[in-house]
Amino acid sequence: MSNNKLTVVDREGKSRDLEWEPDQTLMEALRDNDLPVLASCGGTASCATCHVFLADEVFDTLGERSEDEIELLVEAEGYRECGSRLSCQLDFTKDLDGVTVTLAPEE
Ligand code: FES
Repeated sequence: MSNNKLTVVDREGKSRDLEWEPDQTLMEALRDNDLPVLASCGGTASCATCHVFLADEVFDTLGERSEDEIELLVEAEGYRECGSRLSCQLDFTKDLDGVTVTLAPEE
């Protein structure tokens, strides 16, 4: 499977294009491209330092967030009921090719 293209808007509002490899979660794609995503829990949905925002129309196409994910996100800086996701909980899917991801404020 080919890589996805990904555009990331960082906390300074700057955009950067990246490649997202099929064996990575979204968090791993961000972290491995040196974006300031701490991911201190290593991707186990227990830190919220991988919080990102997605556009509403993209957010709506993804499945429901788990109870654990929602619990962490509601306490996170800048939480949005529609748009907030833990990037470690998003596996590679071709449906997300070309997506734009905005890093949430630092915790
Ligand atoms: S890396 Fe910790 S919640 Fe995603």
